[in-house]
Amino acid sequence: MQQYLQNKKGLVQNVFDQVYDRYDLMNDFMSLGIHRLWKKSMLNMMNPSAKLKLIDVACGTGDIANLFLKHVDKKSEITCIDPNKKMISKAKEKLKIYKNINWIIAPAERIPAQDNSFDLYTISFGLRNTNNLKKSLSEAFRVLRPGGRFFCLEFSKIQNSNFNLIYKKYSELLPLIGKFIVGEKQPYEYLIKSIENFVNQEELIDLMKKEGFEKCFYRNLSGGIVSIHSGWKI
Ligand SMILES: C[S@@+](CC[C@H](N)C(=O)[O-])C[C@H]1O[C@@H](n2cnc3c(N)ncnc32)[C@H](O)[C@@H]1O
Repeated sequence: MQQYLQNKKGLVQNVFDQVYDRYDLMNDFMSLGIHRLWKKSMLNMMNPSAKLKLIDVACGTGDIANLFLKHVDKKSEITCIDPNKKMISKAKEKLKIYKNINWIIAPAERIPAQDNSFDLYTISFGLRNTNNLKKSLSEAFRVLRPGGRFFCLEFSKIQNSNFNLIYKKYSELLPLIGKFIVGEKQPYEYLIKSIENFVNQEELIDLMKKEGFEKCFYRNLSGGIVSIHSGWKI
């Protein structure tokens, strides 16, 4: 199992420093808006009730926090964490109507929170970017309370080989689209490589189980372009 580029310190930070301002626009453009449906699917699967404490790790520009707070009618205290100051500042600007978000600048591998603090943990398109997958999962397990649940939305492996070929061809265009919209190709070259080299659905399940999660399962969306993984701390 590889962790492509993840050990190159500073690279991931650099990538998001370059794209933060047009991150949302580029997401809509690249996925034709479908990333919104994927994120909604994770929320629907979670179906949270009010008062549950959520930590959204690799929060980026705050899409999951926004969906969550709308779902619970703002009646929860949530924590959003990301190591990139520019991404967090974008999120703060977008979500300034909410007063119940605790913002933290930190990586998934070292969450500054006590053990057993949260009912729900989400990470959306973030796990692939961490420096240490195992450590990120063990931190997720640590900060969840017993009975708490982990959700990960992430790029995954397409199941159908013909569809995979088409998707690969499409992916090759992303750096050009990135150059056009964001003015930079390199972050999207990184994106493609990081997706290619990330663990597959079953490998992620195995890693989750190794860190202690139980009742682990995943659901593929859009033929496996992305998947949602879930597991419980019991
Ligand atoms: C593709 S964005 C996802 C943002 C948001 N969750 C979403 O779904 O739109 C990935 C985020 O992961 C963050 N990130 C990079 N390295 C990280 C790490 N080690 N721990 C946690 N987040 C990290 C980046 O700063 C970036 O905001």
